[in-house]
Amino acid sequence: MKTVVYKIDNERKNREIIAEAGRILQEGGLVAFPTETVYGLGANALNADASAKIYAAKGRPSDNPLIVHIADMKALDNIVSEFPEKARKLADFFWPGPLTMIFRKTDAVPYGTTGGLDTVAVRMPNHTIALELIRSGGGYIAAPSANTSGRPSPTLAEHVLEDMDGKVDMIIDGGAVGIGIESTIIDMSGEVPVILRPGFINQSMIEAQIGPVQMDKTISRQVDATERPKAPGMKYKHYAPRADLTIIEGDEAAVVRTINSYADQYEAKGIQVGIIATDETAGLYQRGVVMSIGRRSDEVSISQHLFQVLREFDHTGVGVIFSESFSGGEMGLAIMNRLLKAAGHKKIDV
Ligand code: TXA
Ligand code: MG
Repeated sequence: MKTVVYKIDNERKNREIIAEAGRILQEGGLVAFPTETVYGLGANALNADASAKIYAAKGRPSDNPLIVHIADMKALDNIVSEFPEKARKLADFFWPGPLTMIFRKTDAVPYGTTGGLDTVAVRMPNHTIALELIRSGGGYIAAPSANTSGRPSPTLAEHVLEDMDGKVDMIIDGGAVGIGIESTIIDMSGEVPVILRPGFINQSMIEAQIGPVQMDKTISRQVDATERPKAPGMKYKHYAPRADLTIIEGDEAAVVRTINSYADQYEAKGIQVGIIATDETAGLYQRGVVMSIGRRSDEVSISQHLFQVLREFDHTGVGVIFSESFSGGEMGLAIMNRLLKAAGHKKIDV
């Protein structure tokens, strides 16, 4: 299959691109598109054959359900059989936005889209191109992150092309995404809402709207083979760069000293070292391939570049990578959830 890439830049051309992408989706094809979190790999969510193509293109295990993207609240009636009051409050406050809610599904949603589950994950993205594409594609677009299964999620169209060239019909290039890590997922199908995946919208922001919610216990630690996280995707190995990654956590001076000392040791053995630093600290490292992930004073600048930095190290010759830790702020849980997975949970406290 030939993959066409269209850059969204001017209004008249954009309408034609969205119309063509919509036709592809209605006919059961695949279109990758930007959202405010990461790029998505879209297919018609109500067509099991179209969803099956997503699993094939990503190499994704078939028990890992897809998120259905909608563009307006009316769309819920057809796919959700129970819509609790608390969910209405969250939708009113956070949609369109980086929050995915899980509900009991109707028969309109094929099991091929939900990985065999009786629930469906739904999200209304806060991104003009995504919303127009959803409308143009028939209103229900299943879209996982547009990466090969196991690789970092794409935050630029170039990342999508790297993984999906020849496997999808079209990639819409809308430039860099805003948030850079995937949406917060909350299960609204039980008695008490449960956060299954942390994201930009954190627990206290949600609790300010609907009162107490729980956190799935697998969020901040490694899942072992006997456990079943409620979001099936959370059990898979994820985001790992080719080089072995270790996180160094502690106060800034100790972290810099430790990373510099590891860099000396590895480079003495002829192994090139990668370092994930921040704008504030990048100048403090004397050796290695140093990449700044963003500004410590601005967490979104860190989440925005996290996956890009992990991908970029694969294009260098580094044999090991050391990263500073980013657990401090409001998005700390969400950022570290991804970074710890990428590191296979290797973290050294200094
Ligand atoms: O920000 C995002 O959410 C991006 C953009 C493209 O919207 N999408 C995304 O999709 O991250 P994906 O497929 O990469 O991650 C979806 C996660 C997986 O961990 C999956 O197991 C979980 O959501 N999930 C989907 N439906 C579920 C359900 N019915 N019950 C429990 N977990 C579900
Ligand atoms: Mg994903």
